[in-house]
Amino acid sequence: MIPHSKPFIDNDDVRAATEVIASGNLAQGERVEAFEQAFADSVGNGPAVAVSSGTAALHLSLLALGIGKGDEVIIPSFVCSALLNAVNYVGATPILADIGHNTYNIDPEDVEHRVTGRTRAIILPHIFGEVADLKRFLEMGIPIIEDCAQAVGARYRGQCVGSFGTISMFSFYATKVMTTGEGGMVVSEAEDLLATVRELRDYDERTPYRVRYNYKMTDIQAALGLSQLKKLPDFISRRTAIAMQYTEAFSDLPVGLPNIRPDGSSIFYRYVIMLKERADRFIEEMAASGVVCSRPVFRPIHDLLGAQALPRTERAWQRAVSIPIYPALNDQEIDHIIEAVRHACTVCEASPP
Ligand SMILES: Cc1ncc(COP(=O)(O)O)c(C=O)c1O
Repeated sequence: MIPHSKPFIDNDDVRAATEVIASGNLAQGERVEAFEQAFADSVGNGPAVAVSSGTAALHLSLLALGIGKGDEVIIPSFVCSALLNAVNYVGATPILADIGHNTYNIDPEDVEHRVTGRTRAIILPHIFGEVADLKRFLEMGIPIIEDCAQAVGARYRGQCVGSFGTISMFSFYATKVMTTGEGGMVVSEAEDLLATVRELRDYDERTPYRVRYNYKMTDIQAALGLSQLKKLPDFISRRTAIAMQYTEAFSDLPVGLPNIRPDGSSIFYRYVIMLKERADRFIEEMAASGVVCSRPVFRPIHDLLGAQALPRTERAWQRAVSIPIYPALNDQEIDHIIEAVRHACTVCEASPP
């Protein structure tokens, strides 16, 4: 089976991690500091603080902004439950927004309608690696937590994502564009916000007492992160090349294809196609051809909460399918995926549900 996701790990990555293991300095130390510095340089917007996951990064970002009970935070519904969890960790109220008409990112107009006097932040992901309409959101004058978990290395008007939010976060989970196994990063120009994040990620030998967390990254993870970061431009070029190959090969199929923009504003973390019918049958056909596809979001948050369905999110959840796209795919596997997609489309067309 061709898996839906797979990290790209080479000998340099293995060497970097094993060197740290052999050194015996396993916990947060020099490598974490070096990774923070290198990552901050690559984003180009103030310092960075490494943490144990993207979820931890979101949690600490909300705490740094002073968000808590009685506050409202706008989040997408078409996203993983990490965002909902983070808002619930701080006791704030999640307000769900729908996606746009021609994008899987949240719709600025829909968000505007949901702003109240209690709105304290918008968590704005660049979903599937496609940059959101940042200008529209920044004009709202509400603090933005820029969620770059799926978009490391993507650019907006020539500048790296993560440099627009009041505070911004990244994830290095195993299936992400670059990985540390588990891991996350918080970036901000606002030194006071970052100081809070730094202060809260570690509980040991600190006074005065307050609730703190063990959200530290290890030096083993950071060594892997440093090694992966060197390959990030190649990862993105390879993802873009595969996306272009898919788009050319699928242009005559009756499916909606992702926007291909040659300006770096999408890094193709996911290649998501929109079917005319429900995704289940297509996913089964792909599995029968030896290719694991997936719904790009497990369940929309409105569904998890039993809340009223958001129409465009609901439609995308029912019909969107994520096709494998990652640098570890070889040319033969890519050809096989293309053939399998064409075959699955023919079968689903021939006998609609
Ligand atoms: C958009 C988005 N934000 C945040 C997260 C949370 O990251 P992590 O899994 O590292 O906790 C994810 C993870 O999949 C994500 O896709």
